[in-house]
Amino acid sequence: MRYIRAIRLVNFRNYADASVVFSPGLNVVYGENAQGKTNLLEGVAFAASGSSPRTANDSEVVRWGAGFARAEMRVSLWSSCERRVSVGYAPGQRKRLIVDGAPVGSLAEYAAGAAGVRAITFFPDDIRIVKGAPSDRREFIDSLLSTLKPSYARAASEYTRAVQQRNQLLRRIRDGLSSRRTLDTWDRKVIQLGLTLLKERSGAFPALAEHFTRSLRALYGPEKAAVRYRYSTTPETYVQALRDAHEGDIERGTTSIGPHRDDLEVLLGGVNLTTYGSQGQQRLATLGLKIAAREFIRELAGEDPILLFDDVMSELDERRRRYLAEYFLGSAQALVSTTNLEYFEGETLSRSRVVRVRGGAILEVAKGEMSP
Ligand SMILES: Nc1ncnc2c1ncn2[C@@H]1O[C@H](COP(=O)(O)OP(=O)(O)OP(=O)(O)O)[C@@H](O)[C@H]1O
Ligand SMILES: [Mg+2]
Repeated sequence: MRYIRAIRLVNFRNYADASVVFSPGLNVVYGENAQGKTNLLEGVAFAASGSSPRTANDSEVVRWGAGFARAEMRVSLWSSCERRVSVGYAPGQRKRLIVDGAPVGSLAEYAAGAAGVRAITFFPDDIRIVKGAPSDRREFIDSLLSTLKPSYARAASEYTRAVQQRNQLLRRIRDGLSSRRTLDTWDRKVIQLGLTLLKERSGAFPALAEHFTRSLRALYGPEKAAVRYRYSTTPETYVQALRDAHEGDIERGTTSIGPHRDDLEVLLGGVNLTTYGSQGQQRLATLGLKIAAREFIRELAGEDPILLFDDVMSELDERRRRYLAEYFLGSAQALVSTTNLEYFEGETLSRSRVVRVRGGAILEVAKGEMSP
């Protein structure tokens, strides 16, 4: 069973230099507002995947006034076998990704499990997966598939580039600077990469959707939840649809169909949660998607990803908190942050490790001191 033994954060957010040891099973990260709980979970995700799930701008994680940020981690692979990894970032430089002393060539490779553990994160902002734009939902599926296959991450970024180049060409054709014949070459390139994405996404979907339905039944109740993949064009109609769109695409200077225009539909009792969901329903559905992602990775990679769940207990009623606590206790490892230890039952806490965060310092709390 894989889990994180310890982490050290150097100049990461509000941590100058802090270390902490974790246990398998549930680890409760507790502290008052603005002490560093979210930052600690982000730091663990940074070490596990090579980048922050909260921001695309790496320099945000560098401690104010510092020149670099680094997260080092010890991962337990099995019995006494351990892996040491380190992710370092300095603005203007290439990221340093190191596994057992050796540099890893690419971020895509690192993100696809090189650290020895994969992480499923839940941050309060993630509610945008359900509530937000189609691009937020595509990012969810893309990052899930990228963590399983570096080749998916590569195809996705090549596809994005190909679409951008095709868009440039469309505008040149519109402005009379290029001929239409050149469009065929780019159509072929876009379709070839686009089909790779569609194949992987649609391959993942039945299993992912089933896990979602099941996890929402446990989290929410008997109303049937579903997630559906919404194609802008199916693999079968892709070639023809792209050709049919030529006129309009040239006029607008953008590529109007393909996997970069697809969406996920999240439904509860037949109601679209993106448009009509309550805050609580959207939050639970987001959680359901994350749990579905965990089960999906478990099935495919044969390993239990660690859960990094930030402030997940607030806004949930007691029954759902109890359900989640059991779920975390039964996982290989979960790091769950809270401002309030009372969200966990005494019995749950006695089976967990509790760490306290205060002003960028991390302290382990001895069992006797845990007084809610
Ligand atoms: N790059 C940075 N350098 C230094 N401090 C930072 C950086 N980024 C964020 N911080 C600060 O770190 C502090 C802790 O933030 P964090 O989000 O981890 O708090 P938290 O314990 O999760 O609080 P809450 O309970 O309110 O969610 C905040 O005051 C924040 O402004
Ligand atoms: Mg927080």
